Amino acid sequence: MSIEQLAETAQAMVAPGKGIIAIDESSSTIAKRFAGVGIENTEENRRRYRELLLTTPKLSEHVSGAILYDETIRQKTKDGVPFAKYMASQGMIPGIKVDTGAHPLAGCPGELVTEGLDGLRDRLKEYYTLGARFAKWRAVINIGEDIPSGTCIEANAHALARYAALCQEQGIVPMVEPEVLMDGDHDIQTCYEVTEATLRSLFGALYEQNVLLEGTILKASMIVPGKSCEDQVDVDEVAESTVMCLKSTVPAILPGIVFLSGGQSDRDSTAHLDAMNRLGNLPWPLSFSYGRAMQQAALAHWSKDLVGNFAKAQSIVFDRARENGLAALGQWEG
Ligand code: 13P
Repeated sequence: MSIEQLAETAQAMVAPGKGIIAIDESSSTIAKRFAGVGIENTEENRRRYRELLLTTPKLSEHVSGAILYDETIRQKTKDGVPFAKYMASQGMIPGIKVDTGAHPLAGCPGELVTEGLDGLRDRLKEYYTLGARFAKWRAVINIGEDIPSGTCIEANAHALARYAALCQEQGIVPMVEPEVLMDGDHDIQTCYEVTEATLRSLFGALYEQNVLLEGTILKASMIVPGKSCEDQVDVDEVAESTVMCLKSTVPAILPGIVFLSGGQSDRDSTAHLDAMNRLGNLPWPLSFSYGRAMQQAALAHWSKDLVGNFAKAQSIVFDRARENGLAALGQWEG
């Protein structure tokens, strides 16, 4: 696989006005989401739900690809078409979550390191044959008293870089996701400093592991105060802080940056993305790779009547895709 092909895929993921829908909830996470709205957590209900999302009419107008989970990439539409094949037929790029989750980091109480490198080369080979053209690995950085430690930041950056190099070797674009969590009462400045240190470490590690940035996408968290911080800030401050932090840490050659929603409301996630793009003069496209902020309204609606509300839930997904697609252009009207 040439770097030109990786770069082409990466650019298509952040095509103007398009972003990614993240539907790669692990078995335990989707169990929580379903429990929250009273849906029975069976394989068939998970399949029906992912079919609802992926077959939303005209989704590809605003969505370039979707991140699937191991179970999902093996599932099919009710007509027997594998999801990845269905997506490709609609012009959407299949992606796959390949990490095996964040686990306690030995020697660093309260901190996590993401695992999943063992056997990854063979898993990537199989995912490629199943249609995946990009992959995701999520590292989790917690802010608290005396954390994150440099040890945690570096261990996660190293794992992300090892994963990214393996992806590129197998012709798959790595989406590298170091998520700085919103949990806690820290202020926006603390989030800025932790994110800055995390991104510096990540791009150093990517360089060390010979990862080609032209064929890499960054999935970033925004610079926001902790959820329980007393000093919440306005949309413009989030946008300006996030763009400043990214400009000072992320090389311009990267094809694009997408954001996670991380527990922000639907409205905030869209308003923040829109405000960043309105700032203009950005070295890379900024778009979305939202999970909850793309899905939560539709899931709540669908849960009330799985059969009768299917089409309406899809129209809610489409509306979220359209709004976020406009925000990726700085053209959302609120
Ligand atoms: P949220 O947008 O719900 O944070 O999920 C995105 C994601 O993929 C986190 O890894």
